[in-house]
Amino acid sequence: MTDIGWDKLIDEAQKARERAYAPYSHFKVGAALLCGDGSIVAGCNIENVSFGLTNCAERTAIFSAVAQGKEDFKALAVWADTKKPIAPCGACRQVLAELAPEMPILLLGQGGERILTSVKKLLPQAFDESFLPAETGEEKE
Ligand code: THU
Repeated sequence: MTDIGWDKLIDEAQKARERAYAPYSHFKVGAALLCGDGSIVAGCNIENVSFGLTNCAERTAIFSAVAQGKEDFKALAVWADTKKPIAPCGACRQVLAELAPEMPILLLGQGGERILTSVKKLLPQAFDESFLPAETGEEKE
């Protein structure tokens, strides 16, 4: 598809799905993020009895990666056992726009369909730092 090793990324997303903590929805999702150093950081959804505190697989992956000191994110694969590939939620789209605005994303499900998209396509006209007054945004590295 490109020079990204999608097969390995898909495999890691599928494995991460098995680690999902989803006792309320029973809907398990896995994500795998290719980092600039070539490493892969995976994530799964982690639910909470206070439902709004649930963390999606995509955010788990990218938050884990940032916490591990990774940067320059190259690609994300997202897997759920659905007929149609699922689409990242709005909260994840905003987080991905913050940390990996140029990133391609491959969405996958059990049906075999593959949707190659990107953060920019999933969240056009994103609210970003360009809207902030200069003095507010200048701390960002
Ligand atoms: N979920 C994800 O992890 N990623 C998505 O892209 C969509 C939804 C999770 C959140 C919740 O644990 C479950 O799927 C049902 O919404």
